[in-house]
Amino acid sequence: VGGQIATLQFEGQNGLLDLGWGHPDPSLLPVRAWNTATTNTLTTFGWKALAYGNAAGPGPLIEWLQTHLEAERESGADGHDFFISAGASHALSLLTSTMTVPGDIVLVDSPTYHFALRIFADAPVELMAAPTDSSGIHPGRTEELLLRLKRDGRRPAMLYIVPTFANPTGRSLSDERRRALVDLSARTHLTIVEDDTYRELAYESPAPESLWHLDRRLGCGAAVLRVGSFSKTVAPGLRLGWINAQRDVVRRLTQIGYVDSGGGVNHSTAMTMATFGRSGAYTEHLSHIRKEYRLRRDTLVAALGEVEDFVTIPKPLGGWFLWLSLPEGVTARTLEARSRRHGVAFAQGSQFFVANAGGHSQIRLSFSLFSPEQLVDAASRLSAALVEAVAG
Ligand SMILES: Cc1ncc(COP(=O)(O)O)c(C=O)c1O
Repeated sequence: VGGQIATLQFEGQNGLLDLGWGHPDPSLLPVRAWNTATTNTLTTFGWKALAYGNAAGPGPLIEWLQTHLEAERESGADGHDFFISAGASHALSLLTSTMTVPGDIVLVDSPTYHFALRIFADAPVELMAAPTDSSGIHPGRTEELLLRLKRDGRRPAMLYIVPTFANPTGRSLSDERRRALVDLSARTHLTIVEDDTYRELAYESPAPESLWHLDRRLGCGAAVLRVGSFSKTVAPGLRLGWINAQRDVVRRLTQIGYVDSGGGVNHSTAMTMATFGRSGAYTEHLSHIRKEYRLRRDTLVAALGEVEDFVTIPKPLGGWFLWLSLPEGVTARTLEARSRRHGVAFAQGSQFFVANAGGHSQIRLSFSLFSPEQLVDAASRLSAALVEAVAG
């Protein structure tokens, strides 16, 4: 306490309501329940919670997770199709290093999760936007692109997509396109990396079926890898998530040098997560935060009603984000400066596109970090900045 070195990645700036961060409201982190789970883990498992763990992740967590996903009709996996990772970001980094070779192409949706673009860019691969239209990624045109790339001797190693309650748009891909993508993967062997981080944060009806599960249910034989995370549902500081993959991929992951050497990543946290899940604390917490984030979404959407003349306010059915298209002549960059003067900030749209090739008049607002009262305040500050920007 009081040291020189930061404790957190992000601490709020005085008075600024920064809706650019996709972070949880600190008051919704399960401090007490996690404390109980930690104590119970040590009581139940003793030294086994503190030893080197199984390379693919500890049995208690994988077994609970599988049962939980099964109950959600989302498993499609047996225990050997899981690899516990240090969160979704780590999973993406691991998959990039195991599934690609230098010079490969990684296809991505547009817009897409900006830090995934950063993670892929750490590898010697070329990032390329897959064709999209107003409904998201376009399977037919993506297939044409694959053929063109193949003719040119290029190898598209994988396609990255957040099809459910996407970051940054909050949208979900239609069932028809999900099927078409799974079918495309089965026919062309294109690996699809499905980032399923927001699945559990569904506010209306259950989330659409994952590509992973769809493929398993229909027996398509597609190459879908699903990435999950406990960052949004429990806490980002756990740095805990998982990969669902075919067994040979799981085997390759367990053979990575530092996994082979040190065992499963984040073993003690994974064991505590197993306790948190098995005790029912996870489902209880999830139903609490679903209500809270739904309220925040509704509050921000309603409060932005004031600026409806300028922008259409989408109402995402899950996740943490609103994606707004700005009025004619207003760019995210110019609005940013004005907004900050009014004490509000957002994520500029262009960072969610490969090479910033789009999104210049779009912004992402996250409703996860602030209280409903603060969101009302943020919306009125943003409205004021928008009115000014439109007036020029
Ligand atoms: C789509 C998506 N994937 C992955 C992550 C990061 O997940 P983790 O904290 O598990 O690394 C985020 C967090 O913002 C996200 O929005």
